[in-house]
Amino acid sequence: MPIPLSIPNLSGNESKYVTDCLESEWVSTEGSYVEKFSEAIQDYTKAKYAIPCINGTSALQTCLRLIDLKPGEEVIIPTLTFIAPVNAIKYFYADPIFFDCDNSFNIDINQLHDFLKKHTSYKKGKLTNNITNKTIRAIIPVNVFGNTFDIDSLLELSDKFNIPIIEDASEAIGSFYTKSRHAGTAGLMGCLSFNGNKMITTGGGGMILTNDKKLAERASYLTRQAKDDKIFYVHNEVGYNFRMTNVSAAIGLGQLEQMDKFLIKKRENFNFYKELIEKKENIKLLNPPKYGESNHWFYALKTSSSYKRNIKEIIEYLNKNNVQSRPIWKLNHEQIPFKDCFHVDLSNSIELHKTVFNVPCSTNLKKEEIETVCSLL
Ligand SMILES: Cc1ncc(COP(=O)(O)O)c(C=O)c1O
Repeated sequence: MPIPLSIPNLSGNESKYVTDCLESEWVSTEGSYVEKFSEAIQDYTKAKYAIPCINGTSALQTCLRLIDLKPGEEVIIPTLTFIAPVNAIKYFYADPIFFDCDNSFNIDINQLHDFLKKHTSYKKGKLTNNITNKTIRAIIPVNVFGNTFDIDSLLELSDKFNIPIIEDASEAIGSFYTKSRHAGTAGLMGCLSFNGNKMITTGGGGMILTNDKKLAERASYLTRQAKDDKIFYVHNEVGYNFRMTNVSAAIGLGQLEQMDKFLIKKRENFNFYKELIEKKENIKLLNPPKYGESNHWFYALKTSSSYKRNIKEIIEYLNKNNVQSRPIWKLNHEQIPFKDCFHVDLSNSIELHKTVFNVPCSTNLKKEEIETVCSLL
């Protein structure tokens, strides 16, 4: 049997709740599970408001609409991320500007500080990139592989340069900057994804987190087709149909109930990998950063520069032996739609892209399977 990279663990109340939806015939976007799941996410993350969406990408798109991102404006983003938040910027005909990452795969905050200090100024009250002469509207940091980062330093930058943070915490449910500060709740808004490969899934789904009542109300309004009158169907703005279905939310509720168990399992498996990988000379398992408590969502292995096999060969070899693994996403500044966008020095991202790959990490992964992966390596 192949060992998959990351599959859901649906061993809790998921089928009971979904059966309840089917029997009650509340399968679409109205129904009690949507509210129950949003409240449970609020409670878990301690965000004041949680607005459900059809996926993480639509949550990010909505956040950028909420800051009224305009064509030709710029948003700061790391090049090393899944493409979803980069695409979300482009939906507004705005431009991503790409930054490097640190050794935890998160945006390089020192580099960003340096750039903002040296290359931006305020023109007509707007933070302007002096190199492109365009207005910079937001920073989207990404909790890559669920890793936390030095959020306080980023918040300091956000304050100093008056530029909001929209956290892409899609991979980071269960990651905490401090005990009471969940990933995605520190900036102006944050987004979660419940795609099938995430810590918890709703099949497909996402959530906007915010502590700002007005933004929350507007997010709810925009994601429900901007309906101003429910009886006479008056719409005074262009909205989106981004609502989560009751069936998805029912799965999500069953998943969230298992969160503590998942976190323990992810950490146990991480430690077991570590024990086995430590014996190897040319490969190491990267630790989550020291800032906060990461969820250990994806395990990242790094080869040393003297290693004679490249990532492609390793992945092909593992796949041939029924172990699913994957490289880091192709860097976004090299993707065709974004190849002409402004970027700074990206050497660390390039180096990590060449040397890092992910190995199976599902919460139902067995010890013997980890042994198989490590013996192949
Ligand atoms: C970093 C990141 N951002 C955004 C997304 C988009 O989420 P979704 O697939 O739910 O649209 C994902 C995952 O899929 C992701 O990993």
